[in-house]
Amino acid sequence: MLNVGKITEGFVLDHIEAGTSLSIYHDLKLDQFDRTVAIIKNARSNKMGKKDILKIECGIDELNLDILGFIDHNITVNIVKDGEIVEKMRLELPREIHNIIKCKNPRCITSIEQELEQVFILTDPEKEIYRCKYCEEKYSSPKVKRELLKRR
Ligand code: CTP
Ligand code: ZN
Repeated sequence: MLNVGKITEGFVLDHIEAGTSLSIYHDLKLDQFDRTVAIIKNARSNKMGKKDILKIECGIDELNLDILGFIDHNITVNIVKDGEIVEKMRLELPREIHNIIKCKNPRCITSIEQELEQVFILTDPEKEIYRCKYCEEKYSSPKVKRELLKRR
């Protein structure tokens, strides 16, 4: 099977739903990322039939993958160091998100004190509800995702 070769350091995003790797490439802003990236489309998979894979050669602190939890829970994030997989991360929704979405409540302290950090906390993981840390304004996960994707 075509496998493009192993990476030395970075991430292998495996079990991506076939056909979605290019949009994930953009969601992660990899087009603006000056690193070697391999997009593997329609790889054969026992579990999924077909799947996509993204390989990103970079330092593991160079890339924030929080957004992936919103896009597709089923992606496996393999962290590679010295040519070996050191961790297989299962994704979940981030418990807190910092400076990604802005609270829209005009009475929220963050609307007045512009320099405050925007913090949202996952208050209901089952229903995927986030709330502003300061005023508790509610944001559903799809809404957070839309905001995230708008920033592309
Ligand atoms: N990989 C890589 N570079 C490395 C190590 C692994 O590109 N240095 C890639 C492999 O080519 C593979 C993926 O990372 O596409 C996952 O590797 P591995 O865990 O060995 O494969 P599986 O056992 O099939 O993974 P899983 O059990 O998660 O399906
Ligand atoms: Zn608020």
